[in-house]
Amino acid sequence: MELLKLPTGTPKLNSKIQLTRNKKVPSYNLQDTKKSQIPIHKKQTTHKMQIKQLLKANIKDIIELEKNNAPDKPYYARYDDKALNFIFDNPKTCHAIGLYDDDKLIGWGAYRTNWYRHSKEKGVEISSIVINKNYRRKGLGTVILNKIISKLKENKIKNIFLTVSPLNVGALILYSKNGFIIFDYKKDVYGLGSDRVYLRLSFI
Ligand SMILES: CC(C)(COP(=O)(O)OP(=O)(O)OC[C@H]1O[C@@H](n2cnc3c(N)ncnc32)[C@H](O)[C@@H]1OP(=O)(O)O)[C@@H](O)C(=O)NCCC(=O)NCCS
Repeated sequence: MELLKLPTGTPKLNSKIQLTRNKKVPSYNLQDTKKSQIPIHKKQTTHKMQIKQLLKANIKDIIELEKNNAPDKPYYARYDDKALNFIFDNPKTCHAIGLYDDDKLIGWGAYRTNWYRHSKEKGVEISSIVINKNYRRKGLGTVILNKIISKLKENKIKNIFLTVSPLNVGALILYSKNGFIIFDYKKDVYGLGSDRVYLRLSFI
């Protein structure tokens, strides 16, 4: 079983961490195989959290997650049905993972090898990470991000890129804390007032 790695400063897997909203004695053991599960003790109830590969059948759940948990442009560019279908129709170049609390999708992340739409440089784009509002600031965005990074590293990808709205301070901090550096800023990319910050993480 592969243990997901959390960056320095975030709670270590297998260690006691606080994962409930009211931060009461939960602990979890986050692992990432289809069989493994992350038990989360919420009050008296034990929840099980898992990372799973997402499939076309999950499109409705992803759209619902985004609708309720991610404000649209200029802050964030929500996925629509067409963009999601593109991901699942192109499994060689796109990949999406979901974080489940029991059977509820509470987070997702995706990457696509289509950075060329922004630049001539070769690389992969992390195109989305969204965490349900009720589960934020518990290290779960970091978990999804690191899962994607380690998968790309395994695939010998040298450059990982992403773009974020400059208004999206939380995301900018999340990515910066995990080694991404800002290398460009462009104005009005997605329409007037919709600027983008460009970040990269490179491996030698
Ligand atoms: C951005 C997002 C994915 C972060 O998810 P998360 O699970 O809260 O992230 P983490 O708990 O792993 O945060 C790691 C660190 O990032 C920083 N961070 C995250 N959200 C932050 C916020 N709103 N304000 C300031 N710092 C923030 C903090 O330093 C945090 O560590 P800390 O909680 O120990 O201080 C989540 O807020 C979200 O889904 N936003 C809407 C969609 C979106 O904008 N996605 C990113 C663009 S692709």
